[in-house]
Amino acid sequence: MSNLNDLFEKNKQWAKEIVDGDAKFFERLKEQQTPNYLWIGCSDSRVPPNTILALPPGEIFVHRNIANLVVHSDLNCLSVMQYAVEVLKVEHIIVCGHYGCGGVKAALGSQNYGLIDNWLRHIKDVKRFNDKHLEGLEGEERVNRLCELNVIEQVKNVRDTTIVKDAKQQGATLSVHGLIYDLGTGHLKELDTNA
Ligand code: CO
Repeated sequence: MSNLNDLFEKNKQWAKEIVDGDAKFFERLKEQQTPNYLWIGCSDSRVPPNTILALPPGEIFVHRNIANLVVHSDLNCLSVMQYAVEVLKVEHIIVCGHYGCGGVKAALGSQNYGLIDNWLRHIKDVKRFNDKHLEGLEGEERVNRLCELNVIEQVKNVRDTTIVKDAKQQGATLSVHGLIYDLGTGHLKELDTNA
């Protein structure tokens, strides 16, 4: 006996609504996916990419982790990127952070959270690289500025991968963007990642 009945009900209702609007939707999608975007975002439940972009299944390839990090040696993230770029041939890689990110907040503090502290070390590194941009900022402003700086840093990491470098060298149409999402308004904005 499942205790996920609410979820199954919602799923059945959702699939029915889609088929009611487009009878062949799932049949078509079953054959292949042709997403044009790779989304690298935070695991935060309030930032679900398809929902905030109003995109149906099939439109966006997704990798999420705490604080939307692209770590040079993270085989999980790198494998997603390689597949997206080399097989799916996405034309846009989007790194999307969000203001008020819990991972970023935690990295600014000194509390011990156990295993995850090892992951948060990467954000502490971003803070160290960018200390001068955080000078004089306190509280929420400091957290939110580091959220932006973290996105900019992760965009650099994406651009520095062999995956993106090789694709560019081979003439692929591929651009990397840094976005930030405002939990309080639901709006996205693009950050300047070329500075
Ligand atoms: Co977050």
